[in-house]
Order: sequence, then structure tokens, then C-alpha cells
Amino acid sequence: MKNFLLDYNLKVRLPVLIFVVLTVFAVTYYASYAERNGVGYTPAQPILYSHKLHAGDLKIDCRYCHSDVDKSRHANVPSAKVCMNCHSIARKDKPEIIKLTDYYTRGVPIEWKRVHKVPDFAYFNHSVHVNKGIDCSNCHGNVAEMEVVEQVKDFSMRACIDCHRNPAVNIKNIIPGKENLQINTGPQNCSACHR
Ligand code: HEC
Ligand code: HEC
Ligand code: HEC
Ligand code: HEC
Ligand code: HEC
Repeated sequence: MKNFLLDYNLKVRLPVLIFVVLTVFAVTYYASYAERNGVGYTPAQPILYSHKLHAGDLKIDCRYCHSDVDKSRHANVPSAKVCMNCHSIARKDKPEIIKLTDYYTRGVPIEWKRVHKVPDFAYFNHSVHVNKGIDCSNCHGNVAEMEVVEQVKDFSMRACIDCHRNPAVNIKNIIPGKENLQINTGPQNCSACHR
């Protein structure tokens, strides 16, 4: 009886247990992958807002809407009020603009879905990068050509460090007017990004 139980434990339960543990690990690992490193991630947004139209065709500067990007750690997404600077007049009879106006008049923030995200345990600061003249496109691709924003670059630790080691090779586009700034190598010590 004892031997049978031991046998049963080793031959059946142990492999089953190992299988379950490995499966759970694999599933959670891949499920969290999109959050950690979501290349190709394009969540549906509450209003069909197009960067291609506004930043591309209409040539509105990125900083008109993302006005904190050179002042703070996070790039803000504009409030409905900024949109209403134009849309209190422009296209106000269109369904998507009626939706927009409704958010604005009710004073409810538009619940835009976050596209790019590094985990909370990693520290990233926009202003440091942007004020050195590193253009948005180096990290976000050509947003001015996107109907719907999509993550196109890898935001893994390796991607950060690759550019930090060799910025001269990895920085392809400099913000106009900031070509003459001295760009140093970025930090590679753990505590710079894990504080
Ligand atoms: C007229 C306002 C406006 C302009 C101009 C604008 N954006 Fe945006 N941007 C938004 C809004 C609204 C969102 C949130 C909805 C979305 O993701 O499409 C957003 C989202 C983004 C995101 C994704 C944020 C996230 O959740 O990860 C990036 C990256 C971005 N914009 C970059 C740019 C760049 C680069 C430019 C200039 C080429 C630019 N934007 C110009 C309004 C604007
Ligand atoms: C500087 C002016 C300006 C700002 C700011 C602006 N827009 Fe627009 N938007 C326009 C113009 C002009 C058009 C029409 C362009 C065309 O069709 O030729 C337009 C078109 C649109 C459309 C398409 C409407 C349709 O169905 O024809 C949507 C949706 C829209 N904007 C949403 C937004 C949102 C959301 C914001 C804020 C994040 C915003 N816009 C900020 C000028 C602006
Ligand atoms: C050096 C790379 C890099 C550059 C340059 C850069 N971004 Fe980002 N961006 C990121 C990363 C990384 C995140 C995710 C940040 C997080 O989760 O804290 C992000 C997130 C965002 C977001 C979402 C809100 C936020 O701050 O998390 C917006 C909007 C955005 N970027 C816009 C811009 C615009 C506009 C520019 C250019 C003026 C720009 N970014 C330049 C790497 C960059
Ligand atoms: C395209 C190039 C590039 C990418 C991608 C990039 N960085 Fe940087 N980063 C730089 C450069 C260049 C500097 C140093 C600028 C200087 O001091 O001249 C820097 C500086 C920093 C600093 C030191 C300044 C501060 O804020 O304390 C931190 C932290 C940092 N980066 C974090 C990150 C993280 C996290 C990522 C990835 C999510 C990232 N960077 C991606 C180029 C890049
Ligand atoms: C330039 C910024 C930067 C530096 C320097 C850096 N990291 Fe990271 N690290 C990140 C970012 C961003 C992430 C989240 C993205 C990812 O998981 O790849 C991360 C993720 C991690 C993770 C989680 C990995 C995972 O798969 O979830 C560990 C552990 C880690 N870093 C340890 C370190 C250690 C140890 C060092 C020093 C040798 C270091 N990091 C240096 C930016 C950095």
C-alpha cells in the first residue's frame, strides 16, 4: 500500500503537478507580455481620433496636445477642452464630434486607452530625452502617419540599454532646432532605471 502511494505520487501526481505549474507559468508569462513589451498593440479608442489627419495632414505640432512632454516625466494626453479649441466649430455636426462635445459639456474625461507602458518598477522620463533633441519618432515610429496609434518599437530593457550604449547610431531623428545639443551616452547602471 505504502509503495503504491509513493509510486502513485511520483509517477502520476508529480508529472501532473509539474505540467500544471509550467502551463500556468507559460500562460501568465505570455499574458503579461503585451503589457511589458506590447509591439503591435492597438486598443480600440472611445473616439475615432486620427493622428494621420491632425498631426500629418493638418500638421498640428505634437506638443500642442502633448504639452507636458518636455516638462515632465509623462507625456499628457490632451483634455477634451484642447480638442474643443477647434471642434466647437470644426465638423460639429459629425457623429464623432457630437460624442466629443458630449464628454466636454458633461465634464467627463475621455477614457483613452493607454498604448505604451513600461512596468512601474522601471523609471522613464520624457523630458530628459525630448530636451536633448531626441525626436518622438525614435521611440514611437511615425505617429503622424498613423490613423490609430500603434506601438511599433520594442520597449524592453534591452532596447533602452542599446540606445544608451550607442546613442549616435540609435538616434535617427533629432527635433528641428536641437541639432547642436551635446548628447551623452545614457546610464547603464541598474539604479538609474530601477529606483
Ligand atoms: C490634436 C491633438 C494631438 C496631436 C497634435 C498629437 N496627438 Fe498624440 N494623442 C492625442 C490623443 C487624443 C491621444 C490618445 C488617443 C490615441 O491613442 O489615439 C494621443 C496618443 C498618442 C500616443 C499614444 C499614447 C499612449 O497611450 O501610449 C502617442 C505615442 C502620441 N500620441 C504621439 C504623438 C506624436 C508623436 C505627435 C506628433 C507627431 C502627436 N501625438 C500629435 C492627441 C494628439
Ligand atoms: C487645431 C484644430 C484642431 C484640434 C485641436 C483638433 N482637431 Fe479634430 N479636426 C480638425 C479639423 C480641421 C478636422 C476636419 C479635417 C478634414 O476633414 O479635412 C478635424 C477632424 C476631426 C475628426 C473627424 C470628424 C469627421 O467625422 O469628419 C475627429 C473625430 C476629430 N477631429 C477629433 C478630434 C479630437 C478628439 C481632438 C482632440 C484630441 C481634436 N480633433 C483636435 C481640427 C482640429
Ligand atoms: C526615448 C524614447 C521616447 C521618446 C523620444 C518619446 N517617448 Fe513617448 N513614451 C516612451 C515610453 C518608454 C513610454 C511609456 C512610458 C511609461 O509607461 O511610463 C511613452 C509613452 C508616451 C505617451 C503615453 C503617456 C505617458 O507619458 O506614458 C505619450 C502620449 C507619448 N509617449 C508621447 C510622446 C511624444 C509626443 C514624444 C515626442 C515629443 C515622445 N513621446 C517621445 C518613450 C519615448
Ligand atoms: C533612442 C535612444 C534612447 C532610448 C530608446 C532610450 N533612451 Fe534613455 N537616454 C538616452 C540618452 C541619449 C540619454 C542621456 C542624455 C544626455 O544626458 O545627454 C538618456 C538618459 C536616460 C536616463 C537618465 C536621465 C534621467 O531621467 O534620470 C534614464 C533614467 C533613461 N534614459 C531611461 C530610459 C528608459 C527606461 C528607456 C527605455 C524604456 C530609455 N531610456 C530609452 C537615449 C535613449
Ligand atoms: C536604461 C534603463 C535600464 C537599466 C540601466 C536597467 N534596466 Fe532593468 N528594466 C528596464 C525596463 C524598461 C524594464 C521593463 C521592460 C522589460 O521587462 O524588459 C526592465 C526590467 C528588468 C527586470 C525584469 C525582467 C523581466 O523579464 O520582467 C529585471 C530583473 C531588471 N530589469 C534588472 C536590471 C538590473 C539588474 C540592471 C543592472 C544591471 C538593470 N535592470 C538595468 C530598464 C533598465
